[in-house]
Amino acid sequence: MATEGIERNLAAHVNRIASAIVAEVGRAYFGQAETTEILLTALLARGHVLLEGVPGIAKTTLVKAFSRTLGATFKRIQFTPDLLPSDITGTYILDMRTSSFVLREGPIFAHVILGDEINRAPAKTQSALLEAMQERQVTIDGETLPLPSPMIVLATQNPIEQEGTYPLPEAQVDRFLIKLTMRYPSPSDEKRMLATCTREVEEVRPVIGPADLAEVQKIADHVHVEEDLLDYVLGLVQHSRRHRRVYLGASPRAALGLVQAAKAHALLKGRDFVLPDDIKYLAPHVLSHRILLLPEADLEGLLPEAVVAEALESIPYRKRR
Ligand SMILES: Nc1ncnc2c1ncn2[C@@H]1O[C@H](COP(=O)(O)OP(=O)(O)OP(=O)(O)O)[C@@H](O)[C@H]1O
Ligand SMILES: [Mg+2]
Repeated sequence: MATEGIERNLAAHVNRIASAIVAEVGRAYFGQAETTEILLTALLARGHVLLEGVPGIAKTTLVKAFSRTLGATFKRIQFTPDLLPSDITGTYILDMRTSSFVLREGPIFAHVILGDEINRAPAKTQSALLEAMQERQVTIDGETLPLPSPMIVLATQNPIEQEGTYPLPEAQVDRFLIKLTMRYPSPSDEKRMLATCTREVEEVRPVIGPADLAEVQKIADHVHVEEDLLDYVLGLVQHSRRHRRVYLGASPRAALGLVQAAKAHALLKGRDFVLPDDIKYLAPHVLSHRILLLPEADLEGLLPEAVVAEALESIPYRKRR
């Protein structure tokens, strides 16, 4: 497959930027470097992230710190049952002094958007966010406006407390490139957090700016993927579709997302080509949340993650000669 090559030192440069971002986020968020790397992977692949984790696990802290390293604008939207679509996109209001309508931009007009507890808002409001995510533009009173670039939505869903919530339908979950499950910090990270509890996210310094970030996204597009790796991705998604305990397997969008995420991940690691390991590493993050199990398998406690693990075990990567 012909792709324009990337200069080797350009990939190495992106790798240094990525390391600097991880280090800088680490000043406010005490946890695994992997968490920040996954966010960066989604950002470079122009995807969005579904963040899952119990309350108080530093989801907000992480996302705020991440946006600061990118020199990006950050907005947080708290989803509630009475939130309206226009609370996300914005509205035209009458300016009394000039007697004209001016746009009051909603919180969607930012580079990094944290949608907190997205499952608390009714479907209509959820879809306003999901549409904006997909199309990277919004229509307000008939006028279509582009959203800032790059743009990434990180939406949280609280796994506990299901009462009075509107879980995202499958079709909407599929819009998220990656689902990231945040776990409790290790005892040493938690202790470090306790010892430095005065640390402010405001101390986190920018490493890159939005314009350069958009350039890095373009570089990621040119990361090379061998044809045998595409076959490997197809093998994995087809396995999930054929699985006898699965009701809905991974979509073609999921397959495409896995390839794009693998390219972004390769670049962050300083490579201009994808390795099978990029795919193996990302498959659980990209595929699990889009696989729907049959009710009885669900009741028995089978997890979509286990289906992906099975696919990784049974589908071999075959190198062409
Ligand atoms: N791993 C961690 N690193 C740094 N700070 C942490 C960590 N875990 C918890 N904290 C601290 O705990 C507090 C709560 O964090 P934060 O508000 O980011 O959590 P959250 O997951 O967004 O919570 P919620 O689910 O209620 O929105 C903050 O003061 C934060 O600094
Ligand atoms: Mg929070």
